[in-house]
Amino acid sequence: MDLPTEFSLSDLLELPQTAAASSLSELQKLLDEERNRCAQVIAVSPENLTEAQSDEVRVRFTGRKSPLQDWLKSLRNFPAEERKDAGAKINQLKSFLEGEVERFVLACRASAEKLRLEREKVDLTLPLPELNLGSRHPVSAAAQQLLEPLRRLGFTVIDGPELEREFYNFEALNIPAEHPAREMQDTFFVASQWVLRTHTSSVQAHAMLERGVPLRVACAGFTYRNELDLTHVPTFRQIECLVVDKGITLANMRSTLDAFFAEVFGRPVKLRLRSSYFPFTEPSAEIDVQCQQCFGSGCRSCKHTGWLEMGGCGLVNTRVLESCGIDSKVYSGFAFGMGVDRIAMSKFGIADLRSLYEGDVLLSRQLALR
Ligand code: PHE
Repeated sequence: MDLPTEFSLSDLLELPQTAAASSLSELQKLLDEERNRCAQVIAVSPENLTEAQSDEVRVRFTGRKSPLQDWLKSLRNFPAEERKDAGAKINQLKSFLEGEVERFVLACRASAEKLRLEREKVDLTLPLPELNLGSRHPVSAAAQQLLEPLRRLGFTVIDGPELEREFYNFEALNIPAEHPAREMQDTFFVASQWVLRTHTSSVQAHAMLERGVPLRVACAGFTYRNELDLTHVPTFRQIECLVVDKGITLANMRSTLDAFFAEVFGRPVKLRLRSSYFPFTEPSAEIDVQCQQCFGSGCRSCKHTGWLEMGGCGLVNTRVLESCGIDSKVYSGFAFGMGVDRIAMSKFGIADLRSLYEGDVLLSRQLALR
C-alpha cells in the first residue's frame, strides 16, 4: 500500500481511547480494533518507512507501554470464570502482533538497506565522466603537421637550442656584430654572447657544422623577438628547411616550396617569391602564399593584397657555407624559414595572431577538431 499523501504515521499509531475492558465481548471488540490498526500499519509498503519509524511501530504494538499490557492488567476486573478466556484472547493477539510486527520491521530494515546499496552502487558499465586531458596547442599541432610533408619529401627533422650563442644566431649566418642586418631582429640578450634565438636559421649553422654535407634537414621550434603588435608576438614559432648538396638551384627550392604548400593546404596553392634581402641567402626572396580566405581578390586577413607573407627563402649565401666549413665551389644549397603561426592562421582562418596566445580553451578545442 502506498502512503496516501495525507498519511500520518502518528495518526495510525495513536493509542486507543479506551484501554480497559470489563467483559469478554468488550475486550474482543478492543482486541479486534487493535488488530485492525496493526493490519493497517503493516500494510504500508516497507520502503515508505524509515528504520526509526518502523521502530515506533514495534514499540507501539508490542512495547511495554502498548495497550496489550493494559489489557493484561485489566484481567483482574474480569469475573474469575472469564479470566482464562480473556487471557487467552489477549495472548493470542499478542503473539499475532509480535509475529507480524517483527516481520514488518525486518522488511523495513531490508528495504532501507537495499536503498542504501542502490545509492552507493557503482555501475561499471556507465561511461566515464568527461576527462579533461588537454591537448596540444593548435600552433604546436600545426608545427608538427608542417613537418610531416617535409619528412615525406626526405627531410630529416632535427632540433636546436632556443638559448643560443650569438655565433649560431648571427655570425655564422653572415650577420657580424655591428652589421645593420642585426636590426632586422630585435633580440633578447640573455648574457654576454647568449641570446634567445631570433630565428630557427641558427639551426642551419648547427646542421652544417655538426652534420656536414649533403644535408636535407628541417626543424620547427620557438623563436623570440622583442616585439609586440597586431601581427607580432615576442614568442613565436618558425619552421626551417635547409638543403645543401651538389648542383642545388632555385628551381629545387621553388619545387620544394610548391610541394610543401600543396601538402599543407591539401591542394595546390599559388606562391609568389618576392625579391628581398637576408644576409644568409643570396639571392633572397619573401614567400607569399595566395590568401586562402579570398583567393586573391583581397580581404581583411590579407590586408586587401590577396597575398600572405609566410617567410623568407633563398640560396644559401656562399659566405655562410664557407663559414660553416663547406666548399661553396662544390656545394650549393637553399633554405627557407617561415612563421608557423602565420601558416596556422591562414590554414585555420584566424584574423588576429594574438588570439592564438590568449589561452582561450574554447578556441584551442575548436581548432584541435580541424
Ligand atoms: N630567418 C629568416 C627570418 O626569420 C627567414 C629565412 C630563413 C630567410 C631561411 C631565408 C632563409 O626572417
